[in-house]
Amino acid sequence: VVERFARSRHDPSLAVIEGFHALKHALRFGAEVLEAVAPDLGALDRLARELAPDVAGRLAEVVAPVDAGLFRRLVPRGSAEVAAIARRPEAGVSEALVSGGPAPAVLLDSPRHPSNVGAAIRVAAAAGARAVAVTGDQDPWHPAAIRGAAGLQFALPVGLVPALPASARPLVLIDPGRPALDPRMLPDGAVLAFGSERRGLGEELRGRADLSVGLPMRDGVSSINLAAAVAAVLYAWRLGRA
Ligand SMILES: C[S@@+](CC[C@H](N)C(=O)[O-])C[C@H]1O[C@@H](n2cnc3c(N)ncnc32)[C@H](O)[C@@H]1O
Repeated sequence: VVERFARSRHDPSLAVIEGFHALKHALRFGAEVLEAVAPDLGALDRLARELAPDVAGRLAEVVAPVDAGLFRRLVPRGSAEVAAIARRPEAGVSEALVSGGPAPAVLLDSPRHPSNVGAAIRVAAAAGARAVAVTGDQDPWHPAAIRGAAGLQFALPVGLVPALPASARPLVLIDPGRPALDPRMLPDGAVLAFGSERRGLGEELRGRADLSVGLPMRDGVSSINLAAAVAAVLYAWRLGRA
């Protein structure tokens, strides 16, 4: 079991899910769980009945007991109650950048931190975004990103893309210092692009933008956190639509 979990962390067709909340969301959004283990099934069942009764039965079906010492070797960091291996769904991320309904898609341009990638996916799922595409080398299905997203990778198309496709929907750059965002100006089905934590947006995207907008900040503040910017823009869109 130790080897299976270690191998799965590097298998692009699989996802390692650590922790109750991540597995709860994965199950809720239809994850195909191949294997799941927990050191204390009674505690896990109590947690599920209290916090997520809708998945308690399914959780009890899929989770097998494992020795506590062995479990710590499967999940070396953190205080997860359960760990699982699931199949990654067929994402369709590139397709979501060129087609789909009026909800925006999020493009993260070479982000650096899996925790930011995870937090951005979590809020994108909550706000009803169409997809989250990521350029660069940070896999949005990395176990740390899955923890950061509380498993919401399973709720919408999420994946790495080599670049923004040529026929992508209208491209809106979210860029500090640009004119303030007015959510009514966001075109239907827009691709909202966010830059990396240190360098911001890359030149390739800057050359292709249909619109560039910013989130106003008080004097002296240069930028806000990447995932916080994703949250602010998506909720401006969602609340503006209402
Ligand atoms: C930490 S910021 C990058 C800061 C970088 N030094 C720059 O100047 O772009 C990461 C990303 O979050 C978004 N962001 C952060 N603060 C923003 C703001 N006030 N307005 C618009 N976007 C913002 C942008 O997409 C930005 O590329």
